[in-house]
Amino acid sequence: MPVSALLNLLKDGKFHSGDELGEVLGVSRAAIWKQIRKLEELGLEISSVRGKGYRLQGEMELLNQDYLKQALGDNLQEIHVLFETPSTNTWLLDRANEWSGKAALCVAEKQSAGRGRRGREWVSPLGRNLYFSLMLPAFSPMSVIEGLSLVVGLVVARQLNKLGCDASLKWPNDVLVRGQKIAGVLIELQGDLHSECQLIIGVGVNFDLGVANIDQPYTDIKSVVGKAPSRNSFSAELCEEIIASVELLKERGLKAFISEWQSLDYYREKRVKMLIGQNVWSGVAQGINRKGELQVLTDEDGLKVFNAGEISLRPEDAD
Ligand code: BTN
Repeated sequence: MPVSALLNLLKDGKFHSGDELGEVLGVSRAAIWKQIRKLEELGLEISSVRGKGYRLQGEMELLNQDYLKQALGDNLQEIHVLFETPSTNTWLLDRANEWSGKAALCVAEKQSAGRGRRGREWVSPLGRNLYFSLMLPAFSPMSVIEGLSLVVGLVVARQLNKLGCDASLKWPNDVLVRGQKIAGVLIELQGDLHSECQLIIGVGVNFDLGVANIDQPYTDIKSVVGKAPSRNSFSAELCEEIIASVELLKERGLKAFISEWQSLDYYREKRVKMLIGQNVWSGVAQGINRKGELQVLTDEDGLKVFNAGEISLRPEDAD
C-alpha cells in the first residue's frame, strides 16, 4: 500500500481508526501502524488516541492531478502529480527526449534531492511547499532564453504579490520578501539548441516551510500573510502565467518586462558584493540593462555589467 493512499484518507484532519483505515486500504492494522510511522518520519505530525485512532494535526490539501488536468489540460500534453521524487526538474529532464515538442508539468509533494542554483540543495519537505517544474519546447535565439530566467522570477513575484506578499526580486531570479528568500527558479535545458531541445523551468515556493536548515535568510507565504493558499490553484495560475509570459517574451523580447522587473528590484541603489570564483567587486547596484545584465557601480572599476552564470550577488555585509 503506498503511503500516499493513507495520507489521502488522513488529509481531512479527523480521527480514523486503524480498523477503518486497514479495511479501506485492504491491509492489516499493523501495516497501517507501520505506514503511520513512515508519515511521521517524513515530517507529518500525527496524533494517536486509544479508542479513536489516528489524526493528522490539521487539515491538509494534497496536490490534485484531476484539478490540474481540468485547469491546464488545454495547454499541456502531460500533467503529473508525484508523491515523492528526487527532483521534479530531474523527473522531466529524464523524459525530455521522449516528450520532445510537448509541454509538460510535474509537481510533487516532496523532493528527496531538490536542487537549487549553483549546485545547492533546495529543502523540500512533504506537503508544505510547492515543487513545480514546467517543460516547454525550447525556442531561439539563445538571448531570449537567457531573458527567460528573469521573466520567470518576475512572474512568481507577481503571483505572490496577488496574495499580498510584497515580494521583490534579487537578480537574476530569486524572489524575496523583506530581503528573505521565499521562492527560487532553476531553468535547465535538455538537448541541442540547434535541433530538438526542451526547456525545464523549475520553481520552488515556500508555502509553510516552518523551521528549516537553510544557510540564508528565508521565509514562507504563511509567515508573511498568515495563511498558506491552495497549492493547486497557485500551480495552475503560475503555469498559465509562465506560458503567457513566454509567448510575450518570444514576441516582444525582454523589453516588455524590464520596467516591471526594475520596480521590484530589491537591491537597486543598495550596496552589494559581486562574487565570481575568487574575484569580488563591491559597489552600488543600478538595476538591469536591456539585456537583463546587472549593472553595478563598483568601487574598483566604475560601472560594470554582470551576466548571470556563476555570479553570486550578496548584500555587502554578508560573509
Ligand atoms: C534556487 O536555488 O533559488 C532555485 C531553486 C529551484 C527549486 C525548484 S523546486 C522544483 C524544481 N526541482 C528542483 O530540484 N529544483 C526546482
